[in-house]
Formats: sequence, C-alpha cells, structure tokens
Amino acid sequence: MTCIRAAFKSALAACGFLLCVCLGGCGKNNIEEEVKNIKIGVTVYDQYDTFVSQLIDRFNIYASDKEAESGIAINVEVYNAADSQSTQNSQVETMIDDGCDVVCVNLVDRTEPTTIIDMAEKNDVPVIFFNRELVGEDLERWDKLYYVGAKAFESGIMEGEIAAEVFKTDADADRNKDGIFQYIVLEGEAGHQDAIVRTEYSVSTIVDKGVEVEKLNYAIANWNRAQAQTKMSQMLGEYGDKIELVLANNDDMALGAIDALKAAEIIPEKWPVIVGIDGTDVGLEAVKNKEMAGTVYNDKEGQAKAMLELAYELATGGSLNGLELEDGKYIRLPYEKVRAEDVDEYTHNK
Ligand code: GAL
Repeated sequence: MTCIRAAFKSALAACGFLLCVCLGGCGKNNIEEEVKNIKIGVTVYDQYDTFVSQLIDRFNIYASDKEAESGIAINVEVYNAADSQSTQNSQVETMIDDGCDVVCVNLVDRTEPTTIIDMAEKNDVPVIFFNRELVGEDLERWDKLYYVGAKAFESGIMEGEIAAEVFKTDADADRNKDGIFQYIVLEGEAGHQDAIVRTEYSVSTIVDKGVEVEKLNYAIANWNRAQAQTKMSQMLGEYGDKIELVLANNDDMALGAIDALKAAEIIPEKWPVIVGIDGTDVGLEAVKNKEMAGTVYNDKEGQAKAMLELAYELATGGSLNGLELEDGKYIRLPYEKVRAEDVDEYTHNK
C-alpha cells in the first residue's frame, strides 16, 4: 500500500491544547472548548492520473489555507489505491481505525462501493465520493454519503461545440473536402460515467450543430497518454490522413494522439483537429501552442474546494447550509470551454 502523507500540523494540533474560544458576541463569558484536530482520509484510484493528482494538490493547498484561517489543525492523509478496489477497501478500513473524521473516496470501481459504505455506516464516518460517480441508489443507502464532481454531459456538449465551430470556420479541417467530419474517439475507461457521456454528447452535439460526421473508429485508452499514443499510432496506420478529428475523452489522451503524430513525423499542418477535456496544465499548454484546437475545463479547483469545505463542516459538526448540495448529497461543478484565446485566463488565474 502506497501512502502519501500530506500532514498539515500546526502548533495547536501538536500540543492538543485547550483554548479559550470567544463565542457568541465575545462578551464576558469565555467558554473553554477543546480545539479540534480534524483528520481527513483521501484515497485515489490512481495517483498517476494527471487530473486526479492535480485535484489532490489543490485539495491539500485548500486544507492548508483552511487550517490557517480556522485555527483548527487539519490533517490530510492521501492513499493511492493503485487501481485495486480491494486495496482501496483496506485503506478506508485503516483510515477509520486511524480515527479519520471523514473519508474522501475516488472509487476504483464505481459499481463496488458497498464494502466502503457498510464500514463507514457502522463506524459513523461520513464519506465524500468524488470524480468517479457511483449510481444514485448506492448514494441513497445512508444519509452521510455525498458526491462531488462535475456535470459530465456538459463536457461532451462543449467538446462537440468546439469541434463543430472549428469545422465551420477552418476550411482546412475538412481535409478531403467532402463536407463530412471523419473522426475517431479516444475513450477513457469502459464503464466510467465521464467516458460514456462525453463520447455520446460530443458526437451528438456536432451533429446538432449541423455538421455531418463519419465515425472511422474508436479506442479505449483508459485516460492514459501512453496508451492513447499506441492506439493513435495503430489508427494512423489504418486510416492515415483520413482522420480529420480526434475527440479525446480527456487531455492526456489528446496529448497521446499528438505524441503519435509527432512520432510518425507528420507535420502539424497535416494534423487532424484534436479536442480534449480537463484543462490540465499540459493540456492548456497544448491549447496555447495550438496543437489542440481546444479543451473543456474540468474545474479541479472548484471540486477540491467543495470537497474540502464539505469535509470540514462534516468533521467539525458545522452546517452544510452554505454548500448548495443538490438533493442534500451532490455538488457538481460546471465545465467551461477553453480555446487558445481564453487559455491565459486559466493558466494565470487557476
Ligand atoms: C475524469 C477526467 C479524466 C480522469 C478521470 C478519472 O473526470 O476527465 O482525466 O482523471 O476523471 O476518473
């Protein structure tokens, strides 16, 4: 088990002291209250996933900020499940044994949350699932289960909008001038909500925008750059310059497609239009360089902040009222389209 400790310790926590806290109007009646030292356990399906690792970096930063702001020590422990659900189940057990006040789970297998839910309920430890969405019925199984993520279908629609706009405005996009956008799709993991929904909505949106499409092929590359390069190389071998559009379910796979084009020594003027999703640092760089026509920003800052605020309130027994939970359980952040002209806004401000 790989355990990446990101422990934030303040002087207050180290001492575990009692502190006089001035409550309610700060009058004469100072009430002695124990300073809370909260512990948040986080387990990710794969620490090498670019988007997830950047989201966790943000989470750690926000935890540190919150600690400074609140004066409550926030100890965050991040575990890598390394693509094994049974490893992840054991990690959650360890977190609960270690006294975590709340656990944040990026499920390996989004159809297998039962063991984790049962352990959490038995020990009364709330769970925030994130990024890999479990089915609604599972989230209904206990009232202290939450989900933080994004509106998956929006990302597909926006990716399709970018592709359709390029086809309509850039005469070179239709390489063979047949009026049809010949495309391939690089898909994330089979069964992942984002992969299914992004593929479906990106293509249907291009068609809705009045652009005729022809699917040449698709390949599953599991969100992974190297796998996408391999799959793209194979498809280049088969279809060559017939490929006019690469719809990648995420930026890492779009970058894998670019790696394949470079490895095949195809000059950029002859590249297909490539669109991704996420707006990771490397993805934004490729949009800036015009290697990718655009990406769709998956708001890792918003998601990390929502997770941290929710975890903090749950761990300190605070109010969830300010958190805008849908159905009392969901926080879903919106996506945003990013083209070359918008990219600085994301690289500088985020
Ligand atoms: C998606 C993201 C992918 C990958 C995946 C992992 O939301 O776009 O890049 O991180 O989550 O579950």
